[in-house]
Amino acid sequence: MARTLIVNGTIISPTGLSAGDVLVEGETIAAIFQPGQVAALGVTADRTIDAKGKYIIPGGIDVHTHMELPFGGTEASDTFETGSNAAAWGGITTIVDMALQRYGENVQDGLATWHRKAEGNCSIDYAFHQIIGGIDEQSLKDMTYLVEHEGVTSFKLFMAYPGVFYSDDGQILRAMQTASENGAVIMMHAENGIAIDVLVAQHLARRETDPKYHSISRPSLLEGEATHRAIVLSKVAGNVPLYIVHMSAAEALDEVAQAQNEGLNVFAETCPQYLYMTLEDHLAQPGFEGAKYVCSPPIRSKHDHRHHHKDLWKGLRMNELAIVSTDHCPFCMKDQKELGMGDFSKIPNGIAGVEHRMELIYQGVVLGEISLERWVETCCTTPARMFGMYPKKGIIAPGSDADIVIWDPNSKTKIGINDKHHMNTDHSAWEGTVIDGKVDTVMSRGMIVMENDKFTGRKGHGKYVRRGLSQYLH
Ligand code: URP
Ligand code: ZN
Ligand code: ZN
Repeated sequence: MARTLIVNGTIISPTGLSAGDVLVEGETIAAIFQPGQVAALGVTADRTIDAKGKYIIPGGIDVHTHMELPFGGTEASDTFETGSNAAAWGGITTIVDMALQRYGENVQDGLATWHRKAEGNCSIDYAFHQIIGGIDEQSLKDMTYLVEHEGVTSFKLFMAYPGVFYSDDGQILRAMQTASENGAVIMMHAENGIAIDVLVAQHLARRETDPKYHSISRPSLLEGEATHRAIVLSKVAGNVPLYIVHMSAAEALDEVAQAQNEGLNVFAETCPQYLYMTLEDHLAQPGFEGAKYVCSPPIRSKHDHRHHHKDLWKGLRMNELAIVSTDHCPFCMKDQKELGMGDFSKIPNGIAGVEHRMELIYQGVVLGEISLERWVETCCTTPARMFGMYPKKGIIAPGSDADIVIWDPNSKTKIGINDKHHMNTDHSAWEGTVIDGKVDTVMSRGMIVMENDKFTGRKGHGKYVRRGLSQYLH
């Protein structure tokens, strides 16, 4: 079995920083030695990596991606191969992608389709949540089957996108009741889609068709309202674990914080775009440029009655927001985002980001928004615990998978289509952004998949991860 030693680095975990040398044997972490022990004990390895001046962190886990998702009249442009490679470039060693069941389709067929798309194509490990787009007797039974037999223990429902993935309150309640029996987590896209559709139609009737109206027609109040409703439904269903995805609004954060104060099993994630981008600087760019930033919930205005960025960073510090994911849903401008020229409601919703989450949230450390420990906790450890993969994933510890990132805090990263960009899109939503740090080396189950600015991974190395129930509650 190949042995690799990573020496002289600083190991970061949610509970602190420590000097230590990490021994990897085959696919797992075999031991962590205190400084001096490697020499004293005469530990040897096939390869030794010097991480002096660098951080050693668990591989990032992005729990919200959409590879190859059919959506908005087209399909998300990253395959599992291109998307997992880009993830590896960004220090991600596990993705949890959203398998799709649409209205009228069979849940188990939807999951099988996702397995077919991913199997043999990923360079890093992968797991699945299941989108339930049609809640009926059969899909409710299938939810329990997936929990018990398929390692899929979380289900995404939509209060948005009427006629596409939308479920009404009665359907949502039934799915939550099912989850309260089988132990699953309900993940919620919390926006009031019925009200939003009215506003969208009114803007279009006034010929307000530019990308910026995507945000204006989806006010933060309607994210707050839907979040409140989802929380009430989860309470009625017996305090079922509820996880609000891609939170963008201060009003929604208030609802989650209040529910947590009440002792409810309510959790939430946000994404880098909601921490950094604004309606004015991004969506309202001249011409059709703003289409690059069309996602739902939308990027918010910096002149809103609430300061969304500030509140979301606060939520991350306070653990009201447990996780940062990317909601990676990539579309090219050409032939994809362009579908919405002259009608913002037809722009495919989504931003590519799987490659940049570790970098962008690390910049939050540099800016003083969160600590190094919290960076690791929100991007690596809590994702594993929230979605039943800990301690196999999410921590540098003996016995855990050797999913390891060496991070160089003394280098910089410039993101952009001609700089660092490996996702399958013809633009970068983060063009020109400079990060005060750099992904140096990435190891996936003992295999180096990125080092010295070169991808060294292998298609098919990534394995399916069967997940258990959320370890926040069990
Ligand atoms: O705009 C987004 N978020 N696209 C992906 C689908 C979803 O709602 O997560
Ligand atoms: Zn969503
Ligand atoms: Zn999503």
